[in-house]
Amino acid sequence: MTTPGDETNSGRAIDRVRSIVEEMTDDEKLWCLDGDAPFWAGLTYLGESGYHKSPFRAAKVARLGVPGFAFSDGPRGIVVDQATCFPVSMARGATWDPKLEERIGDAIGRELRAVGADLYGGVCVNVLRHPAWGRAQETYGEDPHHVGEMGAALARGVQAHGMACVKHFACNSMENARFQVDIAVDEAALHEVYLPQFKRIVDEGVAVVMSAYNSVNGEWCGDSRALLTDVLRDEWGFDGFVISDWIFGLRDAARSVHAGLDVEMPYRMIRAGRLPDALEKGDLAWEDVDRAVERVIATCLRFEEILARPVPGREVLACAEHRELAREVAAKSVVLLRNEPVDAGPLLPLDPRSTGSVAVLGRLADRVNLGDGGSSDVWAPEVVTLLDGIRAAAPGAVVSNDDGTDPAEAAVVAGEAEVAVVVVGYTRLDEGEYIGEFATDHLMDLFPGDDDPELVEAFTAQVATERLIEPPPHVVARGEAGGFAAGGDRSSLRLHDEDVALIAAVSAANPRTVVVLVAGSAVVMSEWDRTVPAVVQSWYSGMEGGHGVADVLFGQAEACGRLPFSVPNDDSDLPQFDARANEFTYDAWHGYWYLERAGTVPAYPFGFGLGYTTFALEEARAETSGGGIVVHATVANTGGRAGSDLVQVYARRRGSDRPFRLVGFGRVGVEPGGRAGLAIPVRTESLAERDLDAHAMVVRPGPYDLRVARHAGDPGITTEVVVD
Ligand code: BGC
Repeated sequence: MTTPGDETNSGRAIDRVRSIVEEMTDDEKLWCLDGDAPFWAGLTYLGESGYHKSPFRAAKVARLGVPGFAFSDGPRGIVVDQATCFPVSMARGATWDPKLEERIGDAIGRELRAVGADLYGGVCVNVLRHPAWGRAQETYGEDPHHVGEMGAALARGVQAHGMACVKHFACNSMENARFQVDIAVDEAALHEVYLPQFKRIVDEGVAVVMSAYNSVNGEWCGDSRALLTDVLRDEWGFDGFVISDWIFGLRDAARSVHAGLDVEMPYRMIRAGRLPDALEKGDLAWEDVDRAVERVIATCLRFEEILARPVPGREVLACAEHRELAREVAAKSVVLLRNEPVDAGPLLPLDPRSTGSVAVLGRLADRVNLGDGGSSDVWAPEVVTLLDGIRAAAPGAVVSNDDGTDPAEAAVVAGEAEVAVVVVGYTRLDEGEYIGEFATDHLMDLFPGDDDPELVEAFTAQVATERLIEPPPHVVARGEAGGFAAGGDRSSLRLHDEDVALIAAVSAANPRTVVVLVAGSAVVMSEWDRTVPAVVQSWYSGMEGGHGVADVLFGQAEACGRLPFSVPNDDSDLPQFDARANEFTYDAWHGYWYLERAGTVPAYPFGFGLGYTTFALEEARAETSGGGIVVHATVANTGGRAGSDLVQVYARRRGSDRPFRLVGFGRVGVEPGGRAGLAIPVRTESLAERDLDAHAMVVRPGPYDLRVARHAGDPGITTEVVVD
């Protein structure tokens, strides 16, 4: 992570930036305020799978040595070329392991450079307000503290190699309505629920922020001075630059510059046509333009030294080390939700030596199913399906397979095997980014006139120098190399009827049935989960997912994932969601905060997950230390196998109307029959509330109750700390 240099260095850096900007012509300055590609030529290229062929470039002024930047998307890896596809962010959220996430960031950072890019767009940290959000899989969960820690770790890892971009600022958690919806949110909810994770990542030193498509309190995020200057720069001290989301990410060229949005992405679209006029008429001042250009150049120069290091070769893409990491993460992200005894003991883990036969069933069992088919789609060169993984994990077993189209046939296959594994859930057609139905007249008005032929020539020459990147075989087989999948918000939180029918048929034929759920967020499963002994949430688990998930099913890896969201018993237990809304209110209550306030018991709470052993939390106490708080806890392993437990700290100011909220967490490994202690640091800042008079986050002095627990709603051990 780069940190700003000392006074003298940063003084020198500012002088250097200013002198570059002074040298610039007006055209060169305006050139830095949007993507380098002409709109129509860029869009046509994008349609031919430009996402995977080359990075998006912006703000390069060769004459003055201004490097500009080259952007590749994420978050499950690098979308340009054929890179490592990691499990989706929500899976990584289930590891609750920032150190592991930093290692993923490090691997992604190397691959970023290897594809010729230097800005990674995959730090997506919008809080999961509702599990129907189509892009749920791209963030880490429903709690701002947890999401902030995971996102900060990813940014830290990536920024050892290049720049990272955190997105989508702010309140972007409805997909189908994203180009139209206005989110009404009051100051307290905004700062306590929807922004803390962004602040955490800004504090970590993230280089770039991407604004959101939607509007907040009546202002489009890309045009919002309230968000991009008042909060981001003036209140938080962010010193990087801001880019728009793609194509419709701002609505008013002049207003957006004045608001603090530095670069319109990805093409010369709205600003190129309108800014010269706006400057001429006095609707925008040149000093606003200069400020934006300075921020872009200063940030790129801040990374100059890192970016000057030798660039890894292409062989780093999906290299053995990164694939091994992808497998480790896939295993650590598996959440064991249910594991009831069948005959002697709990069904899982299966013993690879004594299991003679396994039936692997369902249309997702042998399908390449990596998640969203939009901007986060990574072209992994190869993918290990769960069927492949189970075959490799139990080489001595007879592994049969049926795609479950006819449940009766699948039941016959299940009945002949010792164990049945049913793989059910979603694909990129059920959830993901959504492009359809955006074509309102208002948005069409934003399209520019014809491209400048000279720029088209330069762009064509530039992309002609790019290496030819072919789609991998599984993408070709799917027949949709470049296009976006339908995706969008989920229309139901339950499984498809066919999946439910398959579970019923298989579990009736074989009492030793494991259900493996593939989904980016919560699945309501109350109509079937009690009918099977074992359920695991396995997410979109990446290119090595089949191996990672099989490692857990066969006990080569422990089951240690914990839910990064609450799973309700019924859709009606959750706050409202309206995929078609034009206006929507976000209040301070969602997820486990909402459920606890309503007294609703979830099916599986936030932070919950079983292991292959059992744990008891034995003691907990808190102390203030060096301006922060440290919680000490002891965990006993009460089962027969080594394992690690996740201890969570929830806090609430005594007498406040706020919920108990997560402020810290830590993992500890314990031997069977043993106990182990751990210390969990809690930043005092995590206790802050919005003061509506001071318009600032303040930590109110006085006693705070701390719940040290194993999941939300677990009474755990209560202790207190007094903050002065
Ligand atoms: C998405 C962003 C993404 C951008 C560029 C947009 O459609 O909303 O998350 O970074 O495309 O790929």
